[in-house]
Amino acid sequence: MAEYKYECVKVRIRDGIAWASLNRPDKRNAMSPQLHYDMDDALARLEVDDDAKVVVVTGEGGNFSAGQDLKKFFRELEKNPGERKKAAAAANRWRWERLYQYDKPTIAMVHGYCVGGAFMQLLAADFAIAAENATFSLSEVNWGILPGGLVSKALQVCLGYRDALYYSLTGELFDGKKAEEIRLITKAVPAKDLKQTVTEFARRFVKMNPETLRGTKQGIKAVRDMDVGQAHEYLMAKSNELKARDKEDGYNKGIKQFIDDKTYKPGLGAYKRPE
Ligand code: COA
Repeated sequence: MAEYKYECVKVRIRDGIAWASLNRPDKRNAMSPQLHYDMDDALARLEVDDDAKVVVVTGEGGNFSAGQDLKKFFRELEKNPGERKKAAAAANRWRWERLYQYDKPTIAMVHGYCVGGAFMQLLAADFAIAAENATFSLSEVNWGILPGGLVSKALQVCLGYRDALYYSLTGELFDGKKAEEIRLITKAVPAKDLKQTVTEFARRFVKMNPETLRGTKQGIKAVRDMDVGQAHEYLMAKSNELKARDKEDGYNKGIKQFIDDKTYKPGLGAYKRPE
């Protein structure tokens, strides 16, 4: 098992799965500037680490995250605009620019509290699996700010207009079951099954062609904001990029196994990959 060491983030890689955990359990994993710098660096490293095939983002100590650190990220940086700008850039970069377009599949594993700014990594990850008893809260409205960073924008990625307005304007708490019902997350499971469910789900991606996964997820995300003509052009170019990048040559292998060898049916599962 490989590990990366940071002050505020713990990274463990085991059997192809990287677990990147916010590690300020005493502060409910509230996100300080140092945590943002650590996570930004960790995700950049994991993206090119061949041992990490899929990345799980979570929090130590039974909580996902209590959002931005109100003391260290907000109050203490008010009089330090230079550091504030640097910390805000790192915060947006790892929670959105990196995670949303990440080269590898990403899963947010949510337990305990998921509050405010933590919605960004929740929404940027490809999948979110939560404990049924997790607590979600867009708390900003309770204390004089709005869901900033990119939270309000990120909400549009998963939530419908009515739910985005409802939970942002009321600050009402909701649990994992409700989060699944409004499609904020992929699914909710009993808390005792969370780790096992996420591990089994992540294992699927360890076995799949990484370039196909990358092209597919980036294609789906990129065309959301394009018109039909742009999407068509983009997806053609992305398909060519995928074939050029895929050292395994999944396209030709799949066709050969189906058409020539008759050993495989694409409609029923993955082609036989080299060991
Ligand atoms: N920023 C800074 N510190 C925070 C924090 C945050 N967002 N969330 C929790 N902490 C700190 C608390 O100040 C406390 O520190 P202390 O032990 O030095 O006093 C410690 O973490 C434990 O917090 P506590 O409130 O006692 O835990 P709890 O389990 O009773 O409640 C929450 C958990 C998440 C409900 C509560 O901490 C909270 O409301 N946090 C603020 C969440 C928020 O609005 N975030 C939005 C930011 S965008």
